[in-house]
Amino acid sequence: MRITICGGGNAAHTLAGLLAADPANQVRVYTAFEEEAIRWQRGMAEGGIVVTSRHGQIISRPELISSDPGQAIPQAELVLLATPAFAHQPVLEKIAPHLGKGSLIGAMPARSCFDLCARQALGEKFSQMTIFGMQTLPWACRIVQYGREVTVLGTKASVALSVLPARRQAEVVETIARLIGAPVSLTPNFLSLTLAGTGQLIHPGVMYGLFHTWDGRPFKSPPLFYQGIDNATAKILQGLSDEVQRIRTHLEERFPGLDLSDVQPLIRWLWLSYRDDIADCSSLQSSFVSNRSYAGLYAPVQPVDGGFAPDFNARYLSEDVPFGLAATRGVAELCGLETPVIDQVILWAQEKLGKEYLRRGRLDGRDVLETRAPQRYGFTTIQSLIDLYQSVS
Ligand code: NAI
Repeated sequence: MRITICGGGNAAHTLAGLLAADPANQVRVYTAFEEEAIRWQRGMAEGGIVVTSRHGQIISRPELISSDPGQAIPQAELVLLATPAFAHQPVLEKIAPHLGKGSLIGAMPARSCFDLCARQALGEKFSQMTIFGMQTLPWACRIVQYGREVTVLGTKASVALSVLPARRQAEVVETIARLIGAPVSLTPNFLSLTLAGTGQLIHPGVMYGLFHTWDGRPFKSPPLFYQGIDNATAKILQGLSDEVQRIRTHLEERFPGLDLSDVQPLIRWLWLSYRDDIADCSSLQSSFVSNRSYAGLYAPVQPVDGGFAPDFNARYLSEDVPFGLAATRGVAELCGLETPVIDQVILWAQEKLGKEYLRRGRLDGRDVLETRAPQRYGFTTIQSLIDLYQSVS
């Protein structure tokens, strides 16, 4: 298969290395940054890309690394966006003129409302493409040496994806599962993918719990992230999850046939995802702190004089709020539902990020165009959003 991977970070290195190892694939890489392309080309000249995991090492070589979409994109049957969500729109706009009819384009991971972002960025070409979004990246991975080596620290047991148009779902699920060599499950629609994302609840919710009363004095050592969840933080997480469930119930009652069954309560998602790793399932708090997959993971911090300070620009806020929680808040607003706990977390986070998404209880702050809320794409009623999903199935 002719595949182009867009991105130049951890995820792009992993995908490029793994997919290029299969002789059935011809893999190209597009990074928007010339300096990254040059560094990566240098790595290739030294012998290719090494992917290290607990299964051993794979060495492979994509056929082209380029910062010119005109070189990397034409002829691609599959284009994979492996970048943070804030790069989706600029990347799609740069590659759009070079995409052929019938290409399959997906984001790994999609974050919220990737379909609305793609629709806007691809313009008329959107209807000629098949679009998919993955709930998460299948791997935890880190570059060891740029353009040369990447380590896969862990692989998810299964990943969910959503496909547009729906008639191509089965084919896309089969293709992606074969390429990544892991089970892929189908989430029936992009709205479900948007509301089901648990990172948008856990990451901002725990950051809020750990740091909303921080007095500015440095921590001696970085606080534990998941194991630092106390009763008060668990209550915030429960509140966030309950509000998402209320959105789900409202939508299912109002639009019979809309399948949001993947939008699970947070505790149920934890139990399903980490069944064997949780020692004490008696509460949401205990399910986090006794989960051995989360043991020893620290909150994002930066070194300062005298210790460590919270890193409020970390992706747990800078990506999960505008490209996650704000989109869910936007759907709630279209439904006419109040979300006091989501609002409490967004209001705190936006202040830390120096942004304004919520203003006077509505998602119309000055920076709302930097989010992926449906409002950013001009949706003013929930009916119009649901009509859109029903019109393209
Ligand atoms: P990264 O930080 O390594 O990727 C950054 C790359 O994105 C840059 O090197 C550049 O090539 C590209 N990029 C950044 N800004 C851009 C812009 N304005 N225009 C065009 N390209 C731009 O991120 P990583 O680790 O590859 O992650 C990608 C996504 O996967 C993120 O959303 C991350 O949260 C998610 N993820 C990553 C995991 C991991 O283990 N690396 C695990 C789970 C999710």
